[in-house]
Amino acid sequence: MMPARTQVAIIGGGPAGLLLSHILDRNGIASIVLERQSRAHVLERIRAGVLEAGTVELLRDVGLGGRMDREGHPHDGAAIAWEGRPRFFIDTRKFTGKMMMAYGQTAITEDLYAARDAAGGEIIDEAGNVQLHELNSSKPYVTCEKEGATQRIDCDYVAGCDGFHGVSRTAIPASVLKTYEKSCPFGWLGILSETQPFPDLCYCCHSRGFALASMRSPMLSRYYLQCDREAKPEEWPDDRFWQEFKARCPKEMAERIVTGPSIEKSVTPLRSFVAEPMRYGRLFLAGDAAHIVPPTGAKGLNLAASDVLYLSRALTEACRTGRNHYLDCYSDMALRRVWGAVRVSWWLTMLLHRSPDETPFEEKMRLSQFDYLRASEHAQASLAEQYAGLPFEA
Ligand code: APR
Ligand code: PHB
Repeated sequence: MMPARTQVAIIGGGPAGLLLSHILDRNGIASIVLERQSRAHVLERIRAGVLEAGTVELLRDVGLGGRMDREGHPHDGAAIAWEGRPRFFIDTRKFTGKMMMAYGQTAITEDLYAARDAAGGEIIDEAGNVQLHELNSSKPYVTCEKEGATQRIDCDYVAGCDGFHGVSRTAIPASVLKTYEKSCPFGWLGILSETQPFPDLCYCCHSRGFALASMRSPMLSRYYLQCDREAKPEEWPDDRFWQEFKARCPKEMAERIVTGPSIEKSVTPLRSFVAEPMRYGRLFLAGDAAHIVPPTGAKGLNLAASDVLYLSRALTEACRTGRNHYLDCYSDMALRRVWGAVRVSWWLTMLLHRSPDETPFEEKMRLSQFDYLRASEHAQASLAEQYAGLPFEA
């Protein structure tokens, strides 16, 4: 088979890889995406669904705002319902002037595939055994297996957008890569149901454990319950799920929850993970390939978008002008934002969840932290600006 050539070989066709390919194409830079799974599989995955104002702006700026603005649910923050205390609202509009948007990752991925197809973008799906080569030279290349043949793609740069379980990060020698990891002693059990969502995104903090009401569209709801890390979805028939959900939210909220059969149910363990640096020679990592955050701050997808914004700017500068200023800044710049998101996600997770081994002292600290948040406009402004997303670096 003839070797192909492109400017940027992108490993992974999730939101990070597809968005990068889309933005590069708008900037006149060629790329090929190599995705291990079939397109149907990628589109079936149910993931996060809350976009920061900066992500919303980015998607609009690159021509991907049409369906999001028609079907997404703009909102001005999220509520915290704390057992035994008045409801509290993280008011992003009041403190930052910014709106958030509920719009599912599945829909974004559909929009990205449609945009890549419309532009004639090349995506090799079901690409097996992807390998990265000569990353420290000026002529890197990647290989993969497709329909029994080995394919080689020569390129100028490789973007590792292949998620946590991908190969890109493992191509960085252990002597160079430093990883940081912290797991939570619990997970989230999530369901999708074709019911009218509760109108506000609401984080519920309760002595039985955490619960979250979220939405995808006017007739599609997303709900989560804190559960054991090892919980199995089969242990949670719908009746048990709804009963427990209602037990963890305030009475007047429980009465308004519209229940119905779940159409998806899965368990996610909660943890933080960061790999540094996000660059090795001509390989640049973006999205879940480099970092994972617990979903409590809704930061995962937004971080993938901010990495891609920085990386697309850097690759565009390098390909157009030969200058490497932004490429050389990429890892440090992306990691500053990543650590900020890791910190606020961890903080919110610790505030809102009750660990199985929580001591009475730790519980008092959580309560006091919440009371301080309710009492202090400074604390509210700080949380609101981080929840809405800090500005991107220039
Ligand atoms: N070769 C090619 N593709 C691969 C490989 C591989 N060896 N390993 C994984 N992939 C693909 C996966 O099949 C997946 O489609 O890479 C893609 C990575 O996509 P995601 O895991 O969705 O990661 P990313 O694009 O960084 O998206 C950001 O934000 O909300 C969070 O976790 C959520 O997925 C979301 C993420
Ligand atoms: C979701 O809608 O899936 C969601 C919302 C808020 C979060 C996490 C996930 O913090």
